[in-house]
Amino acid sequence: MKIALGADHAGMMLSVDLAKSLTEAGHQVEDLGTYSEASVDYPDFAKKVADSVAGGKTELGILVCGTGIGMSITANKVHGVRAAVCRTEFEAKMARAHNDANILCLGQRVTGPGLAKEIVRAFISSSFEGGRHASRVAKITALEK
Ligand code: RB5
Repeated sequence: MKIALGADHAGMMLSVDLAKSLTEAGHQVEDLGTYSEASVDYPDFAKKVADSVAGGKTELGILVCGTGIGMSITANKVHGVRAAVCRTEFEAKMARAHNDANILCLGQRVTGPGLAKEIVRAFISSSFEGGRHASRVAKITALEK
């Protein structure tokens, strides 16, 4: 799977870890930065990943900041993006299955690397169930107009 990855300085270490494990698992990771712990603004990186996913360049995205919250608020401003902050594997699975989320947001200051990898695994291995959820997601999309 083609996955866009982005982080700010507060999420960079976890994003490096995730890039490594995703690549080892055979995924094609597009790492859109940041690449150091120098202070940056999370909206710049949220936009890069959101544009990549909304534009169809990548299938799913992962954004990491201190809490995941700033990344999700920003990414959700881009039409076509449904970004979800997830703290558990269950939330990650439901975000895909019921909400058709296409970007997972994580907080390096909240979620440890072991759990984060499990959350990522749950997110990318789950699929949208459609059915009754499709018309609900369509109502979200309608709000973008
Ligand atoms: C950076 O200090 C922090 O504010 C940022 O990573 C993020 O947590 C914002 O939502």
